[in-house]
Amino acid sequence: MNKMEIERITLFEQMGGTPALHNLVELFYQHVLADPILKSLFPPDIKPVMIKQEQFLTQFFGGPPLYTNEYGHPRMRARHLSFPITRERADAWLACMHKALQETIQDVSLREEILERLSITAYFFVNKEE
Ligand code: HEM
Repeated sequence: MNKMEIERITLFEQMGGTPALHNLVELFYQHVLADPILKSLFPPDIKPVMIKQEQFLTQFFGGPPLYTNEYGHPRMRARHLSFPITRERADAWLACMHKALQETIQDVSLREEILERLSITAYFFVNKEE
């Protein structure tokens, strides 16, 4: 396989597609709901959030635009403005994601690439001083 062909494989595909994303999201929210500074932000019924997150991450990593098809333009930073997101909370969110990635994806460099992409986004959502 030459370089051009490698570049056409999306992160979504490299991760293992829908079953892998589904697993990742399940584990991620278990960590979120166990986190002392994150859990209070989320509703008791986490299922709808999990479904939306799976749809969003699918398109975020280059898969089909499932979130946009259902909800229109994500405007994801705006959607987070009603929640107080400090830098500390962004760190905690990323730590939960790091754990979930370690539990689901073998390839270390793939994990790092995913986390790097999510870090940029998470810190962009910070909307409140500590
Ligand atoms: C920086 C730390 C973050 C915190 C503290 C946080 C927290 C939250 C909260 C409280 C909700 C709303 C739950 C509800 O419906 O009541 C939410 C929704 C969501 N978050 Fe985050 N989030 C963070 C970062 C991210 C990142 C980096 C992404 C994606 C890359 C993301 C994707 C989503 C999605 C897709 C939803 C559902 C949006 C919808 O309702 O349509 N979040 N988040």
